[in-house]
Amino acid sequence: MNEHHHSDGPDPPSQTTHEDNKPVDLIPKSALSYHPRIGDPLDLLVDMGSGVVLGRSASFHTKYQRAGLGMIGAITETSDDVLTSLFGMPVLLDFVSPHVMLVAGKRGSGKSYTLGIITEELALAMERREIEVAGVVIDTVDVFRQSVEPNDDQVDLLEKWGLKARGFPFAVYIPRRTYAGLPDEVKKKARLFPLAISPRELTASDWGFVLEKGGQLSTAMDNLMGDVLESLRKGYSLESGEKVPLKRDFSIPDMIQCIDSNPSILELYQPASRTAMIQRLRRADRLGVFHPGGTSAQDLAIAGQITIIDVAPLGSDANTVLAILTNMLCRQVLTYRMAWTDEGESAREELPPTWLIIDEAHTLVPKSGSTPAKEAIVGYAKLGRRFGCSLVLCTQQPSAVSDEAISQADIILSHSLSHDNDIKALQQRAPAVMPEKFRDKVFISSLPRGVGIVFDQTTENKRGFMIQVRPRVSQHGGTDRLSALFEAVRLMIPDEIELEELEIKGAAAPESIEEGIAKDLPEVPRPPLKLSKEDWEVMDAWMKEYIEGYFERQKQEYAITEEPGPREEDGAAKPLLEWTITDADIQEEYTPAEIDGSVVSIRRFGPITRSLLTKAVARKVLYSPVTHTYLFGRDSLARETTSIVRTDIEPHLLVEEIVSKMGAMGMQIDSIKDSDGFSFVMLNKDSIRAGLSVGASGPMTCVAVAVVGDSRKEVSSISNQLSEYAEE
Ligand SMILES: Nc1ncnc2c1ncn2[C@@H]1O[C@H](COP(=O)(O)OP(=O)(O)OP(=O)(O)O)[C@@H](O)[C@H]1O
Ligand SMILES: [Mg+2]
Repeated sequence: MNEHHHSDGPDPPSQTTHEDNKPVDLIPKSALSYHPRIGDPLDLLVDMGSGVVLGRSASFHTKYQRAGLGMIGAITETSDDVLTSLFGMPVLLDFVSPHVMLVAGKRGSGKSYTLGIITEELALAMERREIEVAGVVIDTVDVFRQSVEPNDDQVDLLEKWGLKARGFPFAVYIPRRTYAGLPDEVKKKARLFPLAISPRELTASDWGFVLEKGGQLSTAMDNLMGDVLESLRKGYSLESGEKVPLKRDFSIPDMIQCIDSNPSILELYQPASRTAMIQRLRRADRLGVFHPGGTSAQDLAIAGQITIIDVAPLGSDANTVLAILTNMLCRQVLTYRMAWTDEGESAREELPPTWLIIDEAHTLVPKSGSTPAKEAIVGYAKLGRRFGCSLVLCTQQPSAVSDEAISQADIILSHSLSHDNDIKALQQRAPAVMPEKFRDKVFISSLPRGVGIVFDQTTENKRGFMIQVRPRVSQHGGTDRLSALFEAVRLMIPDEIELEELEIKGAAAPESIEEGIAKDLPEVPRPPLKLSKEDWEVMDAWMKEYIEGYFERQKQEYAITEEPGPREEDGAAKPLLEWTITDADIQEEYTPAEIDGSVVSIRRFGPITRSLLTKAVARKVLYSPVTHTYLFGRDSLARETTSIVRTDIEPHLLVEEIVSKMGAMGMQIDSIKDSDGFSFVMLNKDSIRAGLSVGASGPMTCVAVAVVGDSRKEVSSISNQLSEYAEE
């Protein structure tokens, strides 16, 4: 017989550690101020040693037990049947598998506070080393930043919950202009980092949202913006004939310069449009967040870390900037996760499973109208779980949030709601049975702060139930000295100040990958995506478009295709992205009788792993336009690729050795072509064709050789000899 009782006497402190089989300590009644009686029987997944489990099936829970669960509150409903009552039972949320969660409630009902609880529990589960994920919290109203400080005001209440006040070392990103204006010691103490968005991340329509209050540029301005972006991406010529080279990354001043000096823009657009655009761009520049080399998903989503993105200092521009940032974040996180899903460990290195927690989501994913983030969040909600990514959306008005996003929620926690529309939206979307009492408007609109009803899709959790959210162990809210400083910094900076003066020197952003890429890994190719047909179907157009653009920007030159290659014999694997071959890419061509290693350009990569180097070079050989046409210009029956990696050998010598080895097999040099910093050596013998290329990283040299031909036997004979050589 279990011992659920309602203790009215002095509360024994509950304990956080349990011996096996010992029933969990219930949260005492004195810590739970609201005790409504709900008639319907309560049938939930209960682990008698830990509490009510949310987001797990019974079998999943048997496997993981207490690992990866976070206590977000306790059951606060009572029952006529004392024996089956779960009153005071801790409620535990699963963090092991990905979830989409909705937190709803009217103004002041405790939503942001609940997000804070989820964030704290994520951090605690990571500290206990039960999970390893990244948590990113998007905060428009400056309520999460103070989590670095302990909640010393509620020590007694915390004790009743078996908790102790403490702060968390969350990383807090604030707009770089605000950041630059703060004293160093403040930055360090509050763990602040500068947040920037690279202008290249924005489409013309995103710029509409930044530059125009209604989000819509006039047709002329919209065209002008499109032309500016295109000119910067492709490069343009000045009146004098001088060339402004294409830019992979650019600043707002670069955009203004283009409007001022690109002859085709000067000719096409009225001075009034140009001036109006420049004025708006200057204003956007003064926000101080748009800056080349902006913060990337990899800066923000770091395994084992919680990152708070606090854009409150931007004031009325916060929502737009946030929408653009969220858009970028959702897409980048998904892109990386998808691209690396097949890579095992390296997927984790690249980008960990991410919990994205978004407060005030109705402004980002509204039911009607669009924002720069809407499609991306919907896409993330639909696809994220498949790639280990979770989403927590928070809103005052469930009826105003896109159904597409809400319908993905497997767990809903709603605080008090007062509008009929919102109550109805909740009733429609609740992923579990809703007891009659919860349908009562008076009941649901008078729930005290911090109390809510929870619905979990898991079949074991049959119906919605009442929860009291636990008190925070760290501080909630942003009315501190730093908020005042934020405000001061905002007012302090005169409009005319040149951003360059605020350049952040040696900013301590953790492992800024953008910088890393710029310096060390200039061209590390992303692997082609391995997605099933279903995945591609689920993926909305935006995602495809984004990936195309993303890969293009990375100078990605590989068809997005199923492995192993563009000409799969059964014809099943069609390249999803057709590759256009431009002659401009091919710079030089020559046909020497014998190889002279010194004429071969060796592409040097930054410090990368052996397997990445092999992959990079092999894919280059397969998908570069030069070799691609040569090797796959006609149908061949057989194809094999061999990579030879050697350490501490002069790359030129290795090429010479391999080419002469192939010469001994009867392969003649057809031509050598240079493209994009690589040399491609093409060889042939009757119907057999081969292409090779060389890359190096530190002391490692990799030569990848692709061989194609009509005779399967001959192709494998050549490849086998090369593999043998590789093993020597
Ligand atoms: N579970 C709780 N325990 C104790 N205090 C709480 C709890 N939930 C909320 N509060 C307090 O109630 C106030 C409002 O909470 P919160 O900021 O979370 O509301 P909200 O629903 O996010 O409101 P808004 O819609 O204005 O953003 C805060 O001062 C917070 O400290
Ligand atoms: Mg709030």
